[in-house]
Amino acid sequence: MSANETKTEVLPNVDGFKICCIGAGYVGGPTMAVIAKHCPNIRVTVVDLSQPRIDAWNSSKLPIYEPGLQDIVESVRGKNLFFTTNIDEEIVAADMIFISVNTPTKTKGIGKGCASNVKNIEACARNIAKVAKSSKIIVEKSTVPVQTASAISKILRANSDGSVDFQVLSNPEFLAEGTAVRDLLAPSRVLIGGPQNEAGFEAINKLVAVYANWVPRQQILTTNVWSSELSKLVANAYLAQRISSINSISMLCEASKADVEEVARAVGADVRIGPHFLRASVGFGGSCFQKDILNLVYLCESFGLPEVAEYWRQVVTMNEWQKERFTRRMISAMFNTITSKKICLYGFAFKKDTGDTRETAAAYVAKYLLDEDAMITIYDPKVEEEDMWMEFKYTLGITEATHPNLKKSIVLVHDPYEAAKDAHAIAIMTEWDEFKDYDYEKIFANMTKPAFMFDGRNILDHQKLYDIGFEVQCIGKQLPSHFDE
Ligand code: NAD
Ligand code: UGA
Repeated sequence: MSANETKTEVLPNVDGFKICCIGAGYVGGPTMAVIAKHCPNIRVTVVDLSQPRIDAWNSSKLPIYEPGLQDIVESVRGKNLFFTTNIDEEIVAADMIFISVNTPTKTKGIGKGCASNVKNIEACARNIAKVAKSSKIIVEKSTVPVQTASAISKILRANSDGSVDFQVLSNPEFLAEGTAVRDLLAPSRVLIGGPQNEAGFEAINKLVAVYANWVPRQQILTTNVWSSELSKLVANAYLAQRISSINSISMLCEASKADVEEVARAVGADVRIGPHFLRASVGFGGSCFQKDILNLVYLCESFGLPEVAEYWRQVVTMNEWQKERFTRRMISAMFNTITSKKICLYGFAFKKDTGDTRETAAAYVAKYLLDEDAMITIYDPKVEEEDMWMEFKYTLGITEATHPNLKKSIVLVHDPYEAAKDAHAIAIMTEWDEFKDYDYEKIFANMTKPAFMFDGRNILDHQKLYDIGFEVQCIGKQLPSHFDE
């Protein structure tokens, strides 16, 4: 009988279990907090190499911003949820070890710019093999290339004396930032892949038993390990593909006078298509969509499937073009020159309700504007200045060394009205709700005229802005201009 057929199954008792999660990031922290919350009889410890990150998890200012997270962490921290850098000690103590480390795109060597770098995963596997003195279930939580679990198993087997058993499961995470707590409390599904043999089913059932504390059993899907690993990449590729598809149509709408929001509503009303992920935008960002699609592309190439690789690569190509095209439209509207013009970006996070800036479209737009010698002010309700500079440095290679006047050309401002003062244009980069409620009459009055508004998220009241006097452009529809009057 397979694990999928265990409908009348009696799940193993996991009370008293000890879980260790390696990696205290956007996934490790929130996921373990929710497990701890729903499993009071399980001791959960999150470990990381980074002392500042662990210190922040143990403080009143968590290292990441997620609505609802602070309350959950504070309700269980010190009871059955712990954060520490004592990695080896916690590995020794654990029955189950989640690996939730980062798997970024490789920046050099074979597969540079495309393949995922799994060195952190391998480092975890080697460390577990080195220090573990008893059998463990290893849970691959990070997003990885298909067949990584098999590599982990081989490393564990090759580096241990055979007296302990390691079962390696795949349990990818589907949470989205900004809604992480909600997604973890009520997931669309939990996916668990494992070896299709008796020991594998036993391990799968133990992980099922952990999640079954709050997730309905029918929403916990079990598969073989490769399907699970691949499903994660495919899920992200499908989501990103929808955005690139509607963004490609936004260009056609602007050219043809159709309205992309009306098209999205009409298309999404078909239940076979559905209404979600059809919001045209300045382009998708985030640490995972691009990384995971490129990883999929690399896998297809490695498996000798160049046509499949090219099909998925186009999702990323379209996204890059959307970011560049948005900036080109801005420059064109502002009489083809933005040299020394002050341009204000509202939003720098890659989406609302997070301070995460990784791969944010805003950074690319800022780079294109910088290339034209614009003066940029940025306001974001949650982004930390340090993270903004890290994004410019590591994703775009922009530093004081490459741009000597960088910190004069780009300034993070903590007040949205100040950020827009004397600006020639405002561009909405992130769909933060507060942007809808600003006093745009006041903002307009303090801007250089003509005052431009470029809504890269289609969240503002365009008619109202036009009536105030703004020259407004948005994504995927033509709006009236005062110049045509
Ligand atoms: P992150 O960068 O926020 O956190 C990763 C943490 O792992 C860091 O704190 C780092 O110090 C630590 N780490 C790295 N190597 C280590 C090692 N050898 N030992 C101990 N700690 C180590 O990353 P994240 O956003 O949490 O993503 C983690 C994984 O989850 C990635 O594979 C990502 O693709 C996937 N994922 C992310 C999201 C998301 O919303 N961010 C959602 C689903 C899946
Ligand atoms: C995404 C997936 O939604 C998660 O299921 C997945 O677990 C996660 O990636 C991951 O693997 O890291 P996330 O990137 O946090 O989550 O956020 P999304 O809500 O998917 O948004 C991604 C980007 O697409 C954002 O820049 C967002 O503004 C943009 N987007 C989203 C659009 O431009 N239009 C849309 O209709 C939806």
